[in-house]
Amino acid sequence: MKETQVNIVTDIPGPKSKALLDRRFDVIANGVSYSTPIFVEEAKGAFIKDVDGNTFIDMASGIGVMNIGHGDEGVIDAVKGQLDKFTHTSFNVVMYESYVKVAEQLVKLTPGDFNKKVMFANSGAEAVENAIKISRKYTKKPMVVSLECAFHGRTYMAMTITSKVKPYKDGFAPYCSDTYKIPSPYYYRYEGNLSEGEFGLMCANKFETLLKGELNPDMVACLIVEPLQGEGGFIVPPKGYLKRLQEICNENNIVFVVDEIQAGFCRTGKFFCCENSCVTPDLITMSKSLAAGFPLSAVVGRAEMMDAAMSGGLGGTFSGNPVSLAAARVVIEKMVNDDYSGKALHIADIMMPRLFELKEKYSVIGDVRGQGAMIALELVKDKRTKEPNKDDVGKVLSYCLKKGVILISAGIFSNCIRFLPPLVIRDEQLGYVLDVLDEAFTSLK
Ligand SMILES: Cc1ncc(COP(=O)(O)O)c(C=O)c1O
Repeated sequence: MKETQVNIVTDIPGPKSKALLDRRFDVIANGVSYSTPIFVEEAKGAFIKDVDGNTFIDMASGIGVMNIGHGDEGVIDAVKGQLDKFTHTSFNVVMYESYVKVAEQLVKLTPGDFNKKVMFANSGAEAVENAIKISRKYTKKPMVVSLECAFHGRTYMAMTITSKVKPYKDGFAPYCSDTYKIPSPYYYRYEGNLSEGEFGLMCANKFETLLKGELNPDMVACLIVEPLQGEGGFIVPPKGYLKRLQEICNENNIVFVVDEIQAGFCRTGKFFCCENSCVTPDLITMSKSLAAGFPLSAVVGRAEMMDAAMSGGLGGTFSGNPVSLAAARVVIEKMVNDDYSGKALHIADIMMPRLFELKEKYSVIGDVRGQGAMIALELVKDKRTKEPNKDDVGKVLSYCLKKGVILISAGIFSNCIRFLPPLVIRDEQLGYVLDVLDEAFTSLK
């Protein structure tokens, strides 16, 4: 596919997508959601072409996966080369160099000047499960603490420590035992008089209070946090917040796990988002953009922790697939050499001033927030009461789609519009997106 420009040639969805939608309803389980009614034919850079020949700008990146852009030639060549050699032996049976090579790249790149080791898995949720297994095995303690507004995946433990009842938890009880939640540093929804920094410290210190009042630290294996909460609504941690959490973990022999699955891989202007907060996690979970759309996740962390489980306790049949690893190797090299973090910051420079202008212009935009190219608008019915406005999110998203812009929502109240463009998106494409967004808000009046 050639990168051209937005081109809408049918109604959305077009007739071919409509026919596929009908077939989908017959055979695909209801719990598998979709946020646009279109089916892709091909994709390149920041463009997606659907089966009806419509070309869209992708502002979702397959939920923060295609940071490197669709159809990156280096990635595709590496994958094709690997396909010609072998596709699976299971690293647990016959090993391959790429597993070791990508691990070497990751231990170098992750923050922390200590010995680290790596394990690979297939999905984000699986990495989270493994980080928790490792923390429990290493500390010999059971409890897991996470945050309100968190998202860590859909497997049982990952779902248990996730927030947002509908759709993630509804009807799936009983949840896992031995978990606890502390408040999210969601400053926009805080109603007191503290500054953002003071509020962040107050939230972090609630963890300390929990350890005094409710949970014996001798029982707590780990705290898991997203360095910028994703599904919960792109909640940027106040300055000092993550650092204070890390201190509390260190003081109480609790493993500090940072979930970089959505915010990592240059998305926020640093290779790992936690670098913005100057913290060095004991364990990091990563996935999504690690392998440019090929299923792969990893846990990277302190060697003594990663080595706690006995041989055979971690991994799985497909964990560390060689095709995915071939992609990951190129992704990492390219992101470092071609300054993808700089690209994320450039996107922010273009988008943020325009989004703040829109906030002044439209009464439904309550908040504009983000770090690098992980940006959201929070919509409200009234700027004073901040009543969440989910309906207008739906209207804006469907207006934009009809004009050729793919956007997705987020937020515990489903009232945020999130922007996760491929980091290779060009300035004029962003300009188009922002113009369409402006029109979409005008159409609400
Ligand atoms: C922060 C975070 N953790 C974990 C996950 C789960 O990843 P997966 O859907 O690959 O299981 C996600 C997915 O959105 C995520 O954003």
